[in-house]
Amino acid sequence: MSLLAMFKSPGPTGFGYASTADEITKDLSLNGQTILVTGCNSGIGQEVCRVLAMRGARVLGTARTKEKADAACATFSNKSTGYACELSRPTSVRECAAAIKTDGHQLDAIICNAGIMMLPRLEKSHGVELQFFTNHIGHFMLVTDLLQQLKRDGRVVMLSSEAHRAAPSTGIDFDNLSGNKGYRPLAAYGQSKMANLLFAKELQRRFVGTDKVAYAVHPGVVATNLARNMGPILSRVLTALGPMLLKSVGEGSATAVFAAVHPKAAPLAGSYLSNSNVIRPRADAEDKALATRLWMTSEEIVATL
Ligand SMILES: NC(=O)c1ccc[n+]([C@@H]2O[C@H](COP(=O)([O-])OP(=O)(O)OC[C@H]3O[C@@H](n4cnc5c(N)ncnc54)[C@H](OP(=O)(O)O)[C@@H]3O)[C@@H](O)[C@H]2O)c1
Repeated sequence: MSLLAMFKSPGPTGFGYASTADEITKDLSLNGQTILVTGCNSGIGQEVCRVLAMRGARVLGTARTKEKADAACATFSNKSTGYACELSRPTSVRECAAAIKTDGHQLDAIICNAGIMMLPRLEKSHGVELQFFTNHIGHFMLVTDLLQQLKRDGRVVMLSSEAHRAAPSTGIDFDNLSGNKGYRPLAAYGQSKMANLLFAKELQRRFVGTDKVAYAVHPGVVATNLARNMGPILSRVLTALGPMLLKSVGEGSATAVFAAVHPKAAPLAGSYLSNSNVIRPRADAEDKALATRLWMTSEEIVATL
């Protein structure tokens, strides 16, 4: 348990800052469930997969390469299967979705966890700033391609972040998705996490009238490899202070697991969750017109790839 966790109380769901993914699933059997998790080889994604598999789920874990995914999945359970899904490469994303369909998997949940943060310099894929492409466009492609595989009451969970509050004042800077007109690492990361949130909200609107649900979650500030681009000094500070100030990886995996499998999450459909409870995102993350425009723009980008 992290030091901060000792001072936090649970919220209305009965879970809170200190809950771990192990505790969230303590009374659940996930036998018969199939759950797709992107970024299965590191940090939050790896812990999410471990816990879901331990409770009986068949985990489909993706990583940038098949080798990385297989190596990680081999540590979860013999029901786990690895798939290559390099989110910045459309061909790889399409091949991943195709392989999951060919293998005949029907999905109880898709957890879009993989992500990159605060690249120090502007990088792009297919002319689009790389954090927006990897964190949003890659997942948009994967999820929309797999919607037919989602079971009747399937769930989609987007790993967003409180960093969505650092997105540009317009929410999404549609006139600068390339980053060519100016690039700030935190604003670009924030924009990609705002996009994850808007995508979950729009998915939920499109699920109305079905039993399918979508959530965006903030996992907390967790000691993982995510800070790898923030420079050696900050990385050392985070390593030193991590046990005191940051969530453990078990605590950081709890909210995504809660959203994906817990019965108490069902009535919270469409919510933004943190510490396994509902919180309010920045106001424009709930702007329908913005979410619709993002969906349409994403479709236009994908059509060119
Ligand atoms: N840690 C935090 O404090 C925090 C806070 C808020 C939100 N989040 C969100 O939580 C999620 C998980 O982050 P984490 O902290 O667990 O980070 P992490 O340990 O760095 O894990 C990120 C995962 O994403 C994968 N990934 C990165 N780029 C990819 C690409 N182009 N294609 C496919 N996979 C790719 C990584 O693969 P490689 O190992 O091969 O690079 C890794 O498996 C992210 O979406 C992040 O934005 C984290």
